[in-house]
Amino acid sequence: MVSSSLHPMKTAFITGITGQDGSYLAEYLLKQGYKVVGMMRRSATPSTARFAAIEDQVEIGHGDLLDQSSLMRLLDQHKPDEIYNLAAQSFVHSSFHEPVHTGSVTGLGVIRMLEAMRLVCPQARFYQASSSEMFGEVQETPQRETTPFHPRSPYGVAKVYGHWATVNYRESYDMFACSGILFNHESPRRGLEFVTRKISDHVAAIVFGEKDKLALGNLDARRDWGFAGDYIRAMHLMLQQDTADDYVISTGTTQSVREFCRIAFERVGLNYEDFVVVDPRFFRPAEVELLLGDASKAKEKLGWEPEVDFQGLVEMMVDADLQRRLDRFQKPQRGTLPAGVKSS
Ligand code: NAP
Ligand code: GDD
Repeated sequence: MVSSSLHPMKTAFITGITGQDGSYLAEYLLKQGYKVVGMMRRSATPSTARFAAIEDQVEIGHGDLLDQSSLMRLLDQHKPDEIYNLAAQSFVHSSFHEPVHTGSVTGLGVIRMLEAMRLVCPQARFYQASSSEMFGEVQETPQRETTPFHPRSPYGVAKVYGHWATVNYRESYDMFACSGILFNHESPRRGLEFVTRKISDHVAAIVFGEKDKLALGNLDARRDWGFAGDYIRAMHLMLQQDTADDYVISTGTTQSVREFCRIAFERVGLNYEDFVVVDPRFFRPAEVELLLGDASKAKEKLGWEPEVDFQGLVEMMVDADLQRRLDRFQKPQRGTLPAGVKSS
């Protein structure tokens, strides 16, 4: 177990450790000297790939946001100082197909976690992974902590429930409960179903001759995209303050899906217009057309700043997907490999 004097063996409990943010946060907290306990649900094929590099340093507890008793048992066993509730059914598109499941995990799951903390370790500090999807049909631009919510999906509705549950437990029981309203954040560890990783992975697949086309939905949707590695620092900072509060975390810039495609294909010397086709299967019953966050409060009160810009993010993701293929000894068939991407 890594230890340092920065935080003398505080224990952090992370739900969603197998996901993108959970893996980055676990790595970061280990470096800060924390003992990290990650909650995983039972699976026939356990998905530890994202945190494989630190697997032997993390303690795993089996539990599920759908199962109140498992949450109480794990908190009682580990008595964490900090709880990061990152677990969710997090894919907006799926939430239209599984609205009840999404409500149960992503919405009610938050209150199960808060209730477990209230009964077992009320002195712990709690972070809730809230989302810019809560703004949905945006009521003002840019969106800040005071902007009214108008969610546009079962996922967004569930996140609003989780957000207000967090605020309510803070106000009702004086618990240290923070809600981070995070705008989209991506990385080479992003799930393949999300648009950024779908694009970066398809660019690499096209270069290596595995695919000829990239089918997407709404190319004009705009998002405020940042790097997950930057955003998990903000989660930790929120729990180090004197009082619990809610914070928007974003880059303050917005780009379209089309612009993401343009830069991603340019990275390998190709034109996205030669490969991208629009497929109505990827449209949503209700769309969030524009997200743009104002993170002034987090910058001022937490001293948080993002380090990776949009272009850097796109290039990082494309390069990582190219590198994965080179590491499997595949041979490029078209386009040009960026300078840093090399056979090992
Ligand atoms: P992710 O990669 O989809 O990870 C979701 C995690 O939740 C996985 O570890 C998953 O476990 C776990 N999970 C799902 N259902 C569960 C259940 N019933 N019980 C316990 N664990 C369960 O998501 P992410 O991108 O890291 O996002 C982390 C959190 O931030 C999520 O709550 C998401 O909604 C929120 N958020 C994300 C963004 C973003 O842009 N990434 C922005 C705002 C908010 P399995 O591996 O077993 O499926
Ligand atoms: N996934 C996907 N696939 N999205 C597409 C596609 C496609 O083929 N084509 C266009 N899009 C558009 C979507 O319609 C949406 O407007 C945008 O690309 C981004 O979609 P996603 O990458 O799936 O992310 P999201 O914005 O819906 O949700 C993500 O960000 C939220 C924060 O705002 C997720 O990480 C959520 O969990 C998170 O809360």
